[in-house]
Amino acid sequence: MLRRLHPEQPDSFAFTPANQAWAEAQVTKYPDGRQASAIIPLLWRAQEQEGWLTKPAIEHVSDMLGMAYIRALEVASFYFMFQLQPVGSIAHIQICGTTSCMICGAEDLIAVCREKIAAKPHTLSADGKLSWEEVECLGSCTNAPMAQIGKDYYEDLTAESFGRILDELSAGRVPVPGPQNGRYGAEPLKGLTTLTDYESGKTQFNASVQLATDIGDTVKRIDGDEVPLLTPWLDKKGKSASRASGKKPPAAPATPKPAVKQSAEAKKAAALAATEAEPETLSAARDGGADDLKLLKGVGPKLEEKLNELGFFHFDQIAAWTPEQVAWVDSRLRFKGRIERDGWIEQAKQLASGKETEFAKRAKKDGIYED
Ligand code: FES
Repeated sequence: MLRRLHPEQPDSFAFTPANQAWAEAQVTKYPDGRQASAIIPLLWRAQEQEGWLTKPAIEHVSDMLGMAYIRALEVASFYFMFQLQPVGSIAHIQICGTTSCMICGAEDLIAVCREKIAAKPHTLSADGKLSWEEVECLGSCTNAPMAQIGKDYYEDLTAESFGRILDELSAGRVPVPGPQNGRYGAEPLKGLTTLTDYESGKTQFNASVQLATDIGDTVKRIDGDEVPLLTPWLDKKGKSASRASGKKPPAAPATPKPAVKQSAEAKKAAALAATEAEPETLSAARDGGADDLKLLKGVGPKLEEKLNELGFFHFDQIAAWTPEQVAWVDSRLRFKGRIERDGWIEQAKQLASGKETEFAKRAKKDGIYED
C-alpha cells in the first residue's frame, strides 16, 4: 500500500503542555547523540493527541530530536500504526482480516464498515465521526473475529453486535470492550472443562476489560493529563528525582569494589568538560554574508540557526575551534557529541579553504541537507 502524506494538512502542530513535558522527558531516556531513538514514542504521542499524524506534527517531532524531516517521514510512512490521513473524530476502527478472523466472519464486519462508515477504508464517514481499515492479526485469534477500536479490543463479534457498537460510538457512548458473546476471556466457547474453581474468584470483567473500563479512555484523544509521566527517573519539573528531593544519594556499599579503569576517551571527555573555553564569536556575519553552514554534514536549518545565534557564521570560525572551544559549543547545543561525531572541524577546514566535501557537493546538487 502506498503510504504518503495526506494532501490536506493543518498549518501547525503543537503538543499540549502536558504532552510536551512528557515528550521532553522521553528524550532523556537516551544517551547524548542518540535522541533520535525517541522518534516512535513521540510520533505516537502526537497521533494519540490528534488522532492522525500530520506533516506539521512530523516536522515538530523532527525538530525536537534534531533530525532531518525525511528521516522522521521514513519512520512515519514505514509503520502502519501511524495514520497519515485524517481519522474519524470519535474513533478509527481496525478490523482484523487475518486467517482466524477471516474464517470466523471478518468479511461480514468489513461489510458493516462499508455500509455504516464508508465504502473505502481510510475514508471518513459522512458525519466525520468514524473511519476504518483492515489490519493484520492483532493477536486475539481465539476471540475471532475482532476489531481494535481506539485503545481497546472488541471480540467475538458478529455483524449485528458490531453494527450496534458502531451505532453506540456514533451516539457518543463507549460500549464495554472485550468479548461480545458472553465469554469472559479466551476460555472454550462451550465453557470451562478445567480450572473450574477459578469461576468463583472472577471479577465482573476479565483483566483487560476491567482495566479498560476503569481507565475509560477507549476512544479518548490523549492530551497528557490522563496518565502520570512515565519517567520515574525524573520529577515533574524534569529534574533527577534524587537531586530534586535534596536527599543524598545512597551511601556507597561497605565492600570496596575493584576500581573501574576509566577509558582514555572517558578521561578525555571528563577533562574537556572541566575545561570549556568560549570561542571568539561575531554579532553578525562579515561583509559578503554568512556561509551556508548547512553544507556541513550534521548541520540542518535548526542547527544553523542555533550556531548563528551563538555567533558563528563562517566556516573558518568553526575550523579554528580548539577542543576546549568544541566543549563550550557542544554544551550549548541540544545534542552533545555531534561536532566530533560528524567531523565538523575537518569539514569546515576544507570548506573554508575553498575545497568542497562530498556531502557539500551532494547537498548543493540535490538541495538535501541533514540535521
Ligand atoms: Fe484476527 Fe489473529 S487472526 S486477531
